[in-house]
Amino acid sequence: MSKCIFDQIVERKNTNCVKWDGAESLYGKPQLLPMWIADMDFSAPDCILGALKECLNQKIFGYTYAPESLKQVVQSWLSKHYDWKVPSEAIVFNHNVVSSISLALRVLTKKGDKVLIHNPVYNPFFEQLKQLERVPVVSELDIHDNRYFMNVKDMERKINEENVSCILICSPHNPGGRIWDPEELQVVIDLAVKYELPIIADEIHSDLVLPGMKHQPMAQLAAGKCTIITLMAPTKTFNLAAIGPSYILTFERELTEKIKREQKLMVYPEINPFQIAAMTAAYEKGEQWMNELLDYVKGNSDYVRKHLTQINGLRCMDSDATYLMWISYAELGLSEQEVNEAFVANGVALQMGSMYGEAGNGFFRMNIATPRVNVEKGTSMVLRAFQQLMAARANV
Ligand SMILES: Cc1ncc(COP(=O)(O)O)c(C=O)c1O
Repeated sequence: MSKCIFDQIVERKNTNCVKWDGAESLYGKPQLLPMWIADMDFSAPDCILGALKECLNQKIFGYTYAPESLKQVVQSWLSKHYDWKVPSEAIVFNHNVVSSISLALRVLTKKGDKVLIHNPVYNPFFEQLKQLERVPVVSELDIHDNRYFMNVKDMERKINEENVSCILICSPHNPGGRIWDPEELQVVIDLAVKYELPIIADEIHSDLVLPGMKHQPMAQLAAGKCTIITLMAPTKTFNLAAIGPSYILTFERELTEKIKREQKLMVYPEINPFQIAAMTAAYEKGEQWMNELLDYVKGNSDYVRKHLTQINGLRCMDSDATYLMWISYAELGLSEQEVNEAFVANGVALQMGSMYGEAGNGFFRMNIATPRVNVEKGTSMVLRAFQQLMAARANV
């Protein structure tokens, strides 16, 4: 079989790369196969590399503004992929999504306010709330048929009892890989309307949907019935985390102005020439690459699922989106510490579930956006780790 572009190994060591070069200090062992932080081991597409090289020709990199044409690039992408017509005034560029979460929280809430989040969820949600002195109110997700579902009754009870001021939602869900159904999102919108709560929707994974799946932007569904700040970016999709940019969508003029004012206190200008070049190329010319990527990731996911079933009690959650697999070992009755130690001893760095909230205990997250050969190695390291742990237990 001929090799595809995603099979190519791109050397990332000694590039100050958090995933490969930063693993040793975090996991305490050199030469680990890193399947943790969410970026990809694939080269960005040629169209982006070409645009970045061309950008160098401008030779001077002074203060830069986002041209109207960049907004049109975003509008076209949203229209084509989500059939979502977004006015250009709704778009505010910002370097990355995590800082946009902070910006949105600052604009919508004040110190001491309570913010509803799911559990488990992308760990910086907890960190941002803590740093900003907002209080997380967590609603545990339910599991049915090997997938996460929101517990809407619990969400409403918590909104009432805890006097929640804002909802922060991850859609599609990291780490669970769920694309929330429009019906589920509608229920959250109804809660927001009923209790007059704003929503912050982190939709950074919206493009990374597995073949046949479709993401529903929450603000499109809400159609102005409640306040929603949407956070999106081409950075996960096209592997541009170190470059950016991201964008914030709001549909209320005053709120947009507030966001811009708050942003100026933190960062100016809101964009740089490399971000403009990368994003334009990604959204104008990157679609085919993205579709091939999604097929490749699906192949990786199928591989991991097939092989991990060799261990009774390991369960990969069914996933609709993201290149992150969320895998339960809860039935094996092993502690997180011993599982993590066994992973590291066998040469693989994975993210342990409790960092995504208490409900993540008994799970680990595996980043499969890496050439198949690494996925094969990582899967056999995981299998060996569990085989050793089970064998050690049988000998006690
Ligand atoms: C849900 C979610 N939001 C935000 C980010 C990070 O975005 P950025 O690198 O633009 O800050 C990630 C990265 O994994 C993510 O999963």
